[in-house]
Amino acid sequence: MDTIIEAQAVMERCDILGGYSEEPGILTRRYGTPAMRQVNERVAAWMQDAGMIVRQDNAGNLVGRYEASSAGTRTLLLGSHLDTVRDAGKYDGPLGVLTALSCVQRLYDRQERLPFAIEIFAFADEEGLRFHSSYLGSKVVAGTFDPAMLRLADSEGVTLAEAMRTFGGNPDILQASKRDGSDLLGYLEVHIEQGPVLESLKLPVGVVSSIAGQSRISVNFSGEAGHAGTVPMVLRHDALCAAAEFVLAVEALGRSLPGLVATVGQITAQPGASNVIPGLVTLSLDVRHQDDAVREQACRQLQEQASSTGTARGISPGWHTLQQHRTVPCSPRLTQLLAQAIEAAKYPVYSLPSGAGHDAVAMSDLTEIAMLFVRCKGGISHHPAESVAPEDVAAAIKVLEQFLLLLAKGQ
Ligand code: HGY
Ligand code: MN
Ligand code: MN
Repeated sequence: MDTIIEAQAVMERCDILGGYSEEPGILTRRYGTPAMRQVNERVAAWMQDAGMIVRQDNAGNLVGRYEASSAGTRTLLLGSHLDTVRDAGKYDGPLGVLTALSCVQRLYDRQERLPFAIEIFAFADEEGLRFHSSYLGSKVVAGTFDPAMLRLADSEGVTLAEAMRTFGGNPDILQASKRDGSDLLGYLEVHIEQGPVLESLKLPVGVVSSIAGQSRISVNFSGEAGHAGTVPMVLRHDALCAAAEFVLAVEALGRSLPGLVATVGQITAQPGASNVIPGLVTLSLDVRHQDDAVREQACRQLQEQASSTGTARGISPGWHTLQQHRTVPCSPRLTQLLAQAIEAAKYPVYSLPSGAGHDAVAMSDLTEIAMLFVRCKGGISHHPAESVAPEDVAAAIKVLEQFLLLLAKGQ
């Protein structure tokens, strides 16, 4: 079974989707934007070509269903997301959707049906770039979406509810888009590794053991704005200086504990003029670890650090946890099946944890989950240099196909 032609087709489709962006010259595709609409239209057409019944749910997720050989059977969910971060690569998200679609296309070309149905979910918002809250699409499907989120506003003041309507969704009946879990066999997501481990081991694919818990926090330092030329240094309450101290403390803590990663990725200083002392600074904090207790302890430590840095400088700190989730283990049953599929496809089996979050986290509230990682060049992701080899995509297609066969045997 050679799948290199299919892999090249998947790569070409990733290139095509990579052309739909909100910003010229770089790839940025936020939830509900015209670029997202165009991408949904393209993928919907490809799903139809693969014999799938296609719909867009009330949140804007695209769903394609490939029927089973007989009615009343169970359903396997496959998928990933179609939104991106700012200045993104082409594979984070789309590769999982298009690899799954390639396998369905092969079934359809052979006029073959399995003893279970397949649904491919192309989630509309995993990254949370526009409303600063991730897994919006998959949370709706899992039935864990908090309706209070609908009031979140983007940088232009457009609310999530408004964006959803513009995108053809309906925020008033999101519950209707919760997937019923009773017929499900599980959810399997193919995704680029976004790290360097598989490459260092010269392995094309890997099985994910668990997905690291994460905390996303908004931290602010409220000092006193003032004239940059007249307020003496000793009388200042410079919020940006407090924030700078805090950012370095975040880095130091992250370095001090094995497995802990802590990142400040966004920072704004107000009023934001070269001749004004910053009065208010807001920054984002992202903390992750496979052990929830370590992550929680790190967050407590950093909150104390923000407080003591503020006190020493006469500045009030603010701490708002925006979202967090525990470490999610992958299903032992599906993971074992995936390992067997890798063996059957004649690749070495290697298991690794995921430091990145995925839609599988939200889907774990609905059904059992498993993930297959695909090697990516240099471990680079969330960056335009994201790159995968067609041979590795071919490996992922083979493994997924073997997984479907093994699952079919067990039915
Ligand atoms: O940030 C994450 O872990 C994911 O890529 N959204
Ligand atoms: Mn991502
Ligand atoms: Mn992703």
